[in-house]
Amino acid sequence: MCGIVGYVGARPALDVVVEGLARLEYRGYDSAGVAVLADGELATAKRAGKLVNLREALAEEPPPAGTLGMGHTRWATHGAPNDRNAHPHLDCSGRVAVIHNGIIENFAALRSELEEGGHKLNSDTDTEAVAHLLEDELKRGGDLAAAMRRVCGRLEGAFTLVAVHTGDPDLVVGARRNSPLVVGVGDGENFLASDVAAFIAHTRDAIELGQDQVVELRRDGVTVTDFDGRPAEVKEYHVDWDVSAAEKGGYDYFMLKEIAEQPRAVADTLLGRIGADGRLSLDEMRITDQELREVDKIIIVACGTSYHAGLIAKYAIEHWAGLPCEVELASEFRYRDPILSRSTLVIAISQSGETMDALMAVRHARQQHAKLLGICNVNGSTLPRECDGVLYTHAGPEIAVASTKAFLTQLVAVYLIALYIAQVRGTKWGDEVFAMIQLLERMPEKVDKVLETMEPVRELARSLANERSVLFLGRHVGFPVALEGALKLKELAYMHAEGFAAGELKHGPIALIEEGLPVIVVVPPRARDVLHDKIVSNIQEIRARGARTIVIAEEGDESVAPYADTLISVPAVPTLLQPLVTTVPLQVFACELATAKGHDVDQPRNLAKSVTVE
Ligand code: G6P
Repeated sequence: MCGIVGYVGARPALDVVVEGLARLEYRGYDSAGVAVLADGELATAKRAGKLVNLREALAEEPPPAGTLGMGHTRWATHGAPNDRNAHPHLDCSGRVAVIHNGIIENFAALRSELEEGGHKLNSDTDTEAVAHLLEDELKRGGDLAAAMRRVCGRLEGAFTLVAVHTGDPDLVVGARRNSPLVVGVGDGENFLASDVAAFIAHTRDAIELGQDQVVELRRDGVTVTDFDGRPAEVKEYHVDWDVSAAEKGGYDYFMLKEIAEQPRAVADTLLGRIGADGRLSLDEMRITDQELREVDKIIIVACGTSYHAGLIAKYAIEHWAGLPCEVELASEFRYRDPILSRSTLVIAISQSGETMDALMAVRHARQQHAKLLGICNVNGSTLPRECDGVLYTHAGPEIAVASTKAFLTQLVAVYLIALYIAQVRGTKWGDEVFAMIQLLERMPEKVDKVLETMEPVRELARSLANERSVLFLGRHVGFPVALEGALKLKELAYMHAEGFAAGELKHGPIALIEEGLPVIVVVPPRARDVLHDKIVSNIQEIRARGARTIVIAEEGDESVAPYADTLISVPAVPTLLQPLVTTVPLQVFACELATAKGHDVDQPRNLAKSVTVE
């Protein structure tokens, strides 16, 4: 949430920064702004709305050319999304500029103190306070980095800050607490950004910054210290994808590209995790087999789509690994009193690895001495660093705000973990685990098959573009799939959409059914006869009350056909793996329906991809 770019080198900074912002716009698009240092002067430009507005302003009135600059794309927290509150913010002298991602919780006290001290604040933001605090600290002596360290000591909350000062014309300073910031290391140039995507066109060598660190970025070097000025240890890494992965590649939207990439993403997430002997090996998890044998309870914490992956994980873990498993919204977890111990394994699922609610849940679990395992898609992000072990999904960069390929790869990761625990604890025979792995390995081909048959789903979506409401029903793992289908539609089409457990229908939601209401039902495989037959009855119940039934069932399932106004067939797979094929039509449905309504599916209103505030 909020994207940040900083640059110092030999190229025109404005081009590098604006290009970086374009790749970070998924993080927020309420406003955008830049600052460039040229001939000892700071030039800034900022505009409310998407980056295109800023680009137009820059084209009309180009700032002087400089080789040091920074830029920001905003997801508003404090202060309305207008020009005035857009970043960068300046101090009274106009010599210090600051951009920020996060929330400074003690900003009200700091602003009053500054105003009492004679500073004139021009925005309603928490960020502006930092520019003025830096102004005061610079007067006390030392360079911008020293001033930043002292200011950070006074801030509460979450912040990534980047600042420049006309007095230090070769220096960009960044500071990080709780919100993401990575360094891109170039040759005679260096970059700072919320996400490597911003500089991947220039370098794939990155440095991961830790908590409470300040980075000094100069043309010829990078220095990292803690807030007290002590040299800090940093982790360098090489990004294993290139710029083409962060581009649309001929698709109209990133979301369409990411939906299409799912077979590959699923295959990549399985890669290298299955030994020649057919046994799973998840060494990177950094949790020993002995530790896994000692686990007596699993708690999964996550938000949004990742939470839905967690709900599906519960079925797999309980069935295969025979361990009790709870799933909790990360934002709720730490505000009750969860019962954790050293033998509890907490699994945090997060595509970005930066979601504040998930990070806070992890920290809470850490205090209670639980073992921590992350499932994450972004190398170099915060979550893996704060867990004992991590299983990376290999979805590649996911740019569209609504998650698709990351979700499918999270499912693969939880299946791998559940099967691995089953293998280690002996709750399944080796050949049973092996048989399931072989089925998993066939999933990319099944997902591909689903994608090939999506035209009727797109047609259906277009025909429903004017509906006011759509309901989603499922049982067993089909229930979280229904929740995910409804979430996608809310996120993208801004429509009332709700997912229900089909068995709960009779306890309330059935009152919502009226003539013509579209209801999408996810039907379990026929092999699960009891479950299957119950949902077929549910379909009949809603149809009798006038619902328009859209049924997703496995190929050859004739029993549902008489009750389906529209039948969407997916390949037959085992029940627990079925979400990998049943979710895809729901993604396509939401994407197409929202596009038919004229929405930008990559950047839905009010949302941001990476939510770094609580
Ligand atoms: C935001 C995004 C969702 C995502 C959720 C959790 O709300 O819009 O698409 O599922 O955050 O994100 P995470 O990165 O933790 O998986």
